[in-house]
Amino acid sequence: MKKLMILGAGVYQVPILTRAKERGIYTIAVSPDGDYPGLAIADKVYHIDVRAEKQVLEAARAEQIDGITTDQTDLAMDTIAYVAEHMGLPGISRECAKLFTDKSLMRKKGEELGLPTIRSQVTDDLEEAQEFLQSLGSTAIIKPVDNQGSRGIFPINSPEDLTASFERAMAFSKTGRVILEQYVEGKEYEVDSIVFDHRARTLMYADVELFDIPGVFASKTRIYPSAMEGEKVQRLLDYNRKIIEGFGLSEGITHSEFKMDRSGQPYLLEAAARGGGAFVSSHITKLQTGLDTAEFLIDLALGEVKEMPRFSRNLCYCCGVSFYLPAGKIISLEGVEEAKALKYMCAHRLDDLQPGMITEAFSDKTARYISVLRADTREELMQRIDEYREIIRIEVETPSGVRGPIWG
Ligand SMILES: Nc1ncnc2c1ncn2[C@@H]1O[C@H](COP(=O)(O)OP(=O)(O)O)[C@@H](O)[C@H]1O
Ligand SMILES: [Mg+2]
Repeated sequence: MKKLMILGAGVYQVPILTRAKERGIYTIAVSPDGDYPGLAIADKVYHIDVRAEKQVLEAARAEQIDGITTDQTDLAMDTIAYVAEHMGLPGISRECAKLFTDKSLMRKKGEELGLPTIRSQVTDDLEEAQEFLQSLGSTAIIKPVDNQGSRGIFPINSPEDLTASFERAMAFSKTGRVILEQYVEGKEYEVDSIVFDHRARTLMYADVELFDIPGVFASKTRIYPSAMEGEKVQRLLDYNRKIIEGFGLSEGITHSEFKMDRSGQPYLLEAAARGGGAFVSSHITKLQTGLDTAEFLIDLALGEVKEMPRFSRNLCYCCGVSFYLPAGKIISLEGVEEAKALKYMCAHRLDDLQPGMITEAFSDKTARYISVLRADTREELMQRIDEYREIIRIEVETPSGVRGPIWG
């Protein structure tokens, strides 16, 4: 019996854990203790922080695992490469994994590859940051070099903003470094690809629309496929391929975000050498391409992939659509059961909602409630998004009265 270690046991790791179990693989989950649904699925559990490389390696050695993987989370990527390298298991190099998790290395490598790259400065010094801001002569954005989920990200419109946000952004960095970069105006896109034998192929691409809430950098919708047409699409997909292959990724699933300026020039925001979170890898990829990502990732981890899997493109229209709830107490969940039963509902986080639940103030992506909807045409998808938003009539008691979900 093959032994597969899977890092993380949250709702987004449930699909890969389940798939591995269905295939008769002995699954070992690594996750902190807590209310994680994957803990009950795995054959064995180690309560270790997925970022604790040495401890995870120790457990992996004790179990004599045959492979290590995860899906839909960045947190585990460096550890997986570390363990795979030390045990001689299939996987990407640690150096390559770092390029996809450290925002400063990402920018540096983009420049080395000769690709148009967002101007940026990595620093741990406010004075240096102020000097760079002045040299940019435009609005900027500050983020920790090594975090995810929009944690510790702040818009910078003035030197005063920078002074106010610098330490707050620093606090979210494990290595005490922030990256200050030019804020690129334009539309946002997502591109996902599959890589085998150092060759990347596009799986799907989406229009990303952000919430219009100051300081919140999270998407309210991701619509697949993007409505963009013609030469611009090719430019975006080519740019993505050059990044992924140029970063030296040998195999895996990738999830990247881009901004495109008015001239149609794409810029990399960030690239991840893993499937997209929030159901992108587990559900949306299947809807768009027919590819079972979990199957592919398991086979990769066990060294059983011999060729690039077959898949289609743009099989349907689908989207991830999200809402936030205001801070307060949930007093009514009207419409939630109806929404869950919609024939075009493909995946959702609505089960997280309970009457009486206390909702906190939010700023990062993790507090969003996401649903995945599908349709046969773009028009039908747009209608369904509207219909879904009307069906959900949650009420939250807040200090300023009863309020509903925040959709945009
Ligand atoms: N240089 C930039 N210009 C414009 N928008 C940006 C820039 N950097 C980040 N953003 C916005 O912030 C969001 C989150 O930033 P990102 O670098 O992807 O961090 P995270 O790893 O937390 O997701 C992006 O999806 C984008 O909307
Ligand atoms: Mg991001």
